[in-house]
Amino acid sequence: MTKFTNDFLWGASTSAYQVEGAWNEGGKEPSVQDVRTPFTNTSDFKVASDHFHHFKEDIALFKELGLKAYRFSIAWTRIMPYGKVNREGIKFYNDLINELIENNIEPIPTVFHFDLPMRLHESGGWNNRKTIDEFVEYCKVLFDNFGDRIRFWQTINEQNMLVFASKALSGKPKTWKEVFQANHHMLVAQAKAMGVYHKGKYGGKIGPAPNIACVYPKTEKPEDMLAAEYMTSFRNWLFLDAAVYGVYNHKAMRILKSLNAIPEITKEDRKILKENTADFIAFNYYNSMTVSASNGKDQQGVDQQSGFSIKGFFRSEKNNHLRTTEFSEWPIDPVGLRVTANQIYDRYHLPLIITENGLGQEDILTEEGTIHDDYRINYLETHIEQLELAIDDGVELFGYCPWSAIDLISTHEGFRKRYGFVYVNRTDFDLKDLKRYKKDSFYWYQSVIENNGLQAKENK
Ligand code: BG6
Repeated sequence: MTKFTNDFLWGASTSAYQVEGAWNEGGKEPSVQDVRTPFTNTSDFKVASDHFHHFKEDIALFKELGLKAYRFSIAWTRIMPYGKVNREGIKFYNDLINELIENNIEPIPTVFHFDLPMRLHESGGWNNRKTIDEFVEYCKVLFDNFGDRIRFWQTINEQNMLVFASKALSGKPKTWKEVFQANHHMLVAQAKAMGVYHKGKYGGKIGPAPNIACVYPKTEKPEDMLAAEYMTSFRNWLFLDAAVYGVYNHKAMRILKSLNAIPEITKEDRKILKENTADFIAFNYYNSMTVSASNGKDQQGVDQQSGFSIKGFFRSEKNNHLRTTEFSEWPIDPVGLRVTANQIYDRYHLPLIITENGLGQEDILTEEGTIHDDYRINYLETHIEQLELAIDDGVELFGYCPWSAIDLISTHEGFRKRYGFVYVNRTDFDLKDLKRYKKDSFYWYQSVIENNGLQAKENK
């Protein structure tokens, strides 16, 4: 018997700047991602998978895959280039949303996924309070234009990773103080946008989309447990407590104090946070974290999923019980997904949807046009098994959208690191013909969706 409800949203994810390309077409303003120097030996984001020009063909493939939902992001720079509403940008997303609906695929948009308009970046980005108003205005344009067809809006993708991996994601390191002031402005912007949405009675639900990872203590030492609690508060609950309860987490505040990074929070900000909260929680999960008590050394992580340490509170450790991915050695931990889903549900009692989960790996296109990505199937299958158990535990889970629907450019490791069910024929520096090929994981996921879950092992 399947554990998944009949209307469970089996989906897949992408983000605008990683998949669309057409970086300077349709009246678009460049975003920070379009203009920053690419990381060593990786492509820029100018063409990506050229989804902007191939979206109908891609949606036909999503339909064949059987997707019930498509989680994508809207490029702020297409909708409001240089601060003005752009009809061409609105038309592009109207066409995309309508094409999805015609194919019975639920559109689940993210408002902002790492691609701040360059103009705003140059005037201080999220450190400038004015960006809050720009964001809210942009959201209102989205709700007014697409709100009649959207049931689930996500506000900001992985705000916590924008904070902890600011170097990997924007190319620029900042001080903790700057990072957490920017973070505070994002929290207020998100709350205001949720308020506008609720007040406008657009009829759907809205929530945040952070990256949440459970944190294990390295040993049974009480100090390691405390370290795990601190990291959990700092990495996870700081963001969700603000979005769901409208408050700052007290242990996260303790860390911010020690980093001299407590943001300026006005009385009005507190009111806004408190009065405008989330209806559901979308979260991304790739791996768990493991920590021990701090050894007094402060070191930053290198990318959005890797661990990091905070002097006096916690130190990231290797978990010797887990295999790791080939790229960046992220721990592979399906049980951690069950733990994480339970922790979130325990704390907030809101419906959950997983908006990213997946394995980035090099794929080989054979001469016959096939891609044998059994490693990806194995990753996804073991994670879905744990979702079934989480549902058994009582977690209210209404969707699962693995990363990614189609190959796209990784945030900092280029096109070589592929995640898709659909292969896109290009490399980092050769655009080839951008032809689409179905991977083995495509056919596997198709049957998962058809069966509304994994088939019992004995029937396979
Ligand atoms: C998440 C992001 O951090 O992880 C995605 O929301 C990203 O944008 C994904 O692509 C995988 O990370 P990476 O670095 O392998 O692309």
